[in-house]
Amino acid sequence: MKITVRQEKAIDFEDITLLNDIAFGQEHEGLLVERLRKKTPFVKALSRVAVFENSIVGHILFYPVKIVNELTEYESLALAPMSVIPELQNMEIGSQLVKDGLETAKNLGFKSVIVLGHKDFYPRFGFSPAVNWKIKAPFEVPDEVFMAIELLPGGLMAVSGTVLYPIEFNM
Ligand SMILES: CC(C)(COP(=O)(O)OP(=O)(O)OC[C@H]1O[C@@H](n2cnc3c(N)ncnc32)[C@H](O)[C@@H]1OP(=O)(O)O)[C@@H](O)C(=O)NCCC(=O)NCCS
Repeated sequence: MKITVRQEKAIDFEDITLLNDIAFGQEHEGLLVERLRKKTPFVKALSRVAVFENSIVGHILFYPVKIVNELTEYESLALAPMSVIPELQNMEIGSQLVKDGLETAKNLGFKSVIVLGHKDFYPRFGFSPAVNWKIKAPFEVPDEVFMAIELLPGGLMAVSGTVLYPIEFNM
């Protein structure tokens, strides 16, 4: 199956909303992407779609977030949400989106990515519990599902604090 991954275009917006709603089985995720897209610092190149025969079959978003502590703050990215159409799940499309997105983020100069997700899925791309860097979620969550990855060696060196998500994630 030949899947291509590319940056979103305006013509994809409706399909992306629908795809997120279908994959998650509720309307919140599509709306979340729409709201984040209108907000600074949304990075167009980090909202990426998987295309199969001219149809959008997958989407992934990396949104800039801060990791803050009493002394300072650091830039990072939150990977969320990610969706693949139900009919084509478990065919590596999600994996292709993650790998492509991490590479793109690295090329754009980002140093790390944070994800709240399944403990058996994300480690295969190099994610490990964020607690290893003393990075915490702003809510109660088991350590093994709150993960981080360095996009370059030392990308999280000396980084510690709490990840601050934009308010849209709570809406
Ligand atoms: C999560 C998702 C994007 C993965 O896409 P995909 O194309 O199916 O992923 P891949 O085929 O590359 O990888 C499949 C692997 O992910 C695992 N997986 C997929 N969704 C999972 C989930 N929600 N929880 C745990 N594991 C999951 C599968 O069990 C499979 O594991 P295996 O390789 O050990 O068998 C897709 O399943 C989806 O859209 N799910 C609904 C929305 C969602 O939960 N998004 C993630 C949270 S942001």
